[in-house]
Amino acid sequence: MRWLTTATAVAALVGQALSQDAPTFPFPASCAGVDAPRYPYTLDAGWSATKIASGLRQPRTIIFDNLGHMLVLQATMGISVHTFGADGCINSTKTLFQSSGLNHGLSLTPDNKILYASSQTTVWSWTYDAAAMTVTGQKTVISGIGQGIHSTRTTVVSPKNPNLILVSVGANSNWDNPTIDPGVGRAIVKVFDVSAAPANGYTFNTQGKVLAYGLRNEVALAFDPNGHVWGAENSGDDFRRTVNGQATDIHIDNPAEELNYLGDPEAPLTNNWFGYPTCFTVWEPSNFKDNTALKTGSQFVVTPNTTFNDASCTGKSVPPSLSFPAHTAPISNAFDKTASNLYITFHGSWDRQPAQGYFVAEVPFKKNEDGSYAPVAAPDSKTGYKTIIGAQSPGSCNSPSLTMSTCWRLAALNWDPAGTRLFISSDNQASGEIFVLQKKA
Ligand SMILES: *[C@@H]1O[C@H](CO)[C@@H](O)[C@H](O)[C@H]1NC(C)=O
Ligand SMILES: *[C@@H]1O[C@H](CO)[C@@H](O)[C@H](O)[C@H]1NC(C)=O
Repeated sequence: MRWLTTATAVAALVGQALSQDAPTFPFPASCAGVDAPRYPYTLDAGWSATKIASGLRQPRTIIFDNLGHMLVLQATMGISVHTFGADGCINSTKTLFQSSGLNHGLSLTPDNKILYASSQTTVWSWTYDAAAMTVTGQKTVISGIGQGIHSTRTTVVSPKNPNLILVSVGANSNWDNPTIDPGVGRAIVKVFDVSAAPANGYTFNTQGKVLAYGLRNEVALAFDPNGHVWGAENSGDDFRRTVNGQATDIHIDNPAEELNYLGDPEAPLTNNWFGYPTCFTVWEPSNFKDNTALKTGSQFVVTPNTTFNDASCTGKSVPPSLSFPAHTAPISNAFDKTASNLYITFHGSWDRQPAQGYFVAEVPFKKNEDGSYAPVAAPDSKTGYKTIIGAQSPGSCNSPSLTMSTCWRLAALNWDPAGTRLFISSDNQASGEIFVLQKKA
């Protein structure tokens, strides 16, 4: 999505380390002093949802420290920290760090000692004190990130090797052709070893390792229990399929948004090109009258020619593990404790009438015999996920800009350290809201 920029995430409190002494709080049926949800939504019968905060400034990322405090990256404002009372509602709020430049990325090391946050151009770190809820000793960790239509730089610490931080940078336009070379430092996820960082920090484009590239805007990044990375991608806008000079508008239902397996940050995949800006993913195959072999999840090129057609993508571009409808705009993702499901927020479309998105997806996952994880559904499935909560009438949502909308715009998503309460945010600028969800027993 053109307006959507970047990244997200945060991450994934993967199991073990964080959950041992995690404080637990009850699920609140309501929270005194919190106004009603600003926009109507529908909720799956197997879930409960309660609004716990409003009036935030574009909450993009939610993480938790080991004491159960909730840290929120509020774009153009900074980072806030919130404690919970015995009723499970927020009982104190303070500004942890004020900065108008911070716009998305927020992550803590598993020992809670180092906090990272990002602006469009820079990643910083601080020493974090969870008991005092303070940060000190700001350092520049990565700088020189390019600018463009996608401005978020999802930043996540690897839970398996906390010296490694991953940073996602999107394309600088809908068609960012130079990104076919990972050296341009866009449409890419890179890995940086902070234990070996130069005194002034890393330079994004020329340093670090490439985890994966050819990713138009991989905002959501989560770790499975093996510490391997799953990204969700915002794919292109306004597509036309041109065959023998005849152009057909395919943008309503193509290309698909993607769920991509990006691999192990300590041992990147041998082939780590995910197709952009050449190979894209089919959501609705009936739009491709000239190539009836295409299925949901297949790779296609917008303008096949004699030297490179849809089939040429096979073996070159890594296809997604699962696809989602066009323009739904995935922002944050996180596994539940057992990695039985991956949850993803979808910000919602602007490049499509009727609109779609504006929901949280539950994607069932399985553990394979070799110990790896994968979605339960096949890659050509259109039904590999289920909506657990979403805007009541998504088709009529009108979103004239990234943060303006007649509906909520779901952004942050994360589990609390106990793994029992799922938190989501809307970054609609009319009122940043946070909701807590819980699966009924
Ligand atoms: C919030 O609730 C916690 C847990 O019940 C309590 O320890 C803490 O003192 C409360 N803080 C405020 C500011 O009320
Ligand atoms: C054929 O398509 C490929 C991939 O889109 C492109 O790189 C190449 O320039 C095209 N060739 C011609 C002759 O247009």
